[in-house]
Amino acid sequence: MSNFHLHYRLFSVTLYLLLLLLSFPLSFSQSQYVDDEPDQDSPVSRFQRYLRIKTAHPDPDYASAVAFLRSQAQEIGLHTQILEFVTGKPLLLVTWYGLDPSLPSILLNSHMDSVPAEPSKWVHPPFSAVRTSDGKIFARGSQDDKCIAIQYLEAIRNLRNRDFVPVRTIHISYVPDEEIGGSDGAAKFVQSKEFKELNVGFMMDEGQASPGDEFRVFYADRSPWSLIIKAKGSPGHGSRMYDNSAMENLMKSVEIMTRFRESQFEIVKAGEAANSEVISVNPVFVNAGTPSPTGFVMNMQPSEAEAGFDLRLPPTADPDAMRRRIAEEWAPARRNMTYQILEKGPIRDYLGSPLMTMTNASNPWWAVFKAAISDAGGKLSKPEILATTTDARFMRQMRIPVLGFSPMINTPILLHDHNEFLSDSVFIRGIKVYESLISALSSFQEDVSSQ
Ligand SMILES: *[C@@H]1O[C@H](CO)[C@@H](O)[C@H](O)[C@H]1NC(C)=O
Ligand SMILES: *[C@@H]1O[C@H](CO)[C@@H](O)[C@H](O)[C@H]1NC(C)=O
Repeated sequence: MSNFHLHYRLFSVTLYLLLLLLSFPLSFSQSQYVDDEPDQDSPVSRFQRYLRIKTAHPDPDYASAVAFLRSQAQEIGLHTQILEFVTGKPLLLVTWYGLDPSLPSILLNSHMDSVPAEPSKWVHPPFSAVRTSDGKIFARGSQDDKCIAIQYLEAIRNLRNRDFVPVRTIHISYVPDEEIGGSDGAAKFVQSKEFKELNVGFMMDEGQASPGDEFRVFYADRSPWSLIIKAKGSPGHGSRMYDNSAMENLMKSVEIMTRFRESQFEIVKAGEAANSEVISVNPVFVNAGTPSPTGFVMNMQPSEAEAGFDLRLPPTADPDAMRRRIAEEWAPARRNMTYQILEKGPIRDYLGSPLMTMTNASNPWWAVFKAAISDAGGKLSKPEILATTTDARFMRQMRIPVLGFSPMINTPILLHDHNEFLSDSVFIRGIKVYESLISALSSFQEDVSSQ
């Protein structure tokens, strides 16, 4: 072997080792996911394309979401209409006309927006919709609730390919702003003449993932209230003990509220009710004290103090009793206290009944829903009240029966969490479940308009 060859070999071995070293982190991270073919077109790739549209707050790209969903709906041959109750906040309405337009229609709802994500806390970028080799699709919105948005369309695509013809008309509404309260989205939609004309008889909206192998279904939401209580009192030297300082008045209230909170939590801990079936009270801020350059003035008792609470009321709670409790016990004027309640949505329907959808024989849609789930080979767990809040409350207020349902079993609950994901197999199975639901609900011919 010549000197040249020896040098060459040493050089190439070094180069090889160097490349190996350099490529190691690259190949390691690449082995975790499969690159999707850019030109591949499948239900999963369409789901990924929708997930890549950034509709996270505070700056959701509704225009791109509407354009994408509309082109999908048109490709399937469905009618589309864009409603814009507030400028820059479009709502896409997709329609598959049934044979009998005189029958009340079926409405499937999904919100286009999502909560923000902190990319540094994610293993994959939250808007890349990376699919790992074990089939997990990571993206903000993958569970909440972009999955159902695409599943509705894919189920209808499959039903049309099988020449299924619905009797009742089916609508899909893609609404903005659910994650920030829905006042410019679903709330305006239900009040519109366009909504009235849909003559909705039954609606489905988002639900939540189920870690087990039974599908979860939700018949009510809790109603969120923001409560701020404020105490006033005479200021005084920090060394003096006297009655009725602002802090003392506030702390008396906090003690009373803590006892109430414990009474509710005890019921949950004893297993007598689910977390979502009691009134939750959680302190979220305390604001008091006189600021100083080093923190707070310590030898002075402040003349004002306030605290904020997040309250959630199940539909079975009595809102008037709660308002009385706040006025008389939690922030009474006799303790120099004032309060402010911000009720974020209705707790009674327009006739004064609790805002909940019946899941028994009094609601004929319930039997159709249940049968369709079992026809798809699924099992349902006991109907629940959702601990959080969705757009469904606006439709329930109009006395439209609404079930919250997202077909995700064997899936950890990751809505609003880091590393939100959905498995491709769970997503695909969900499409089959919706095929069963949409065909059953749209074929249901009993006249239930008297409900
Ligand atoms: C309420 O405020 C007034 C005026 O500052 C004060 O005289 C009174 O003692 C306070 N009462 C209570 C219960 O804090
Ligand atoms: C259905 O449930 C509601 C509420 O629990 C109850 O008032 C009603 O009597 C039930 N109806 C039937 C037919 O079971």
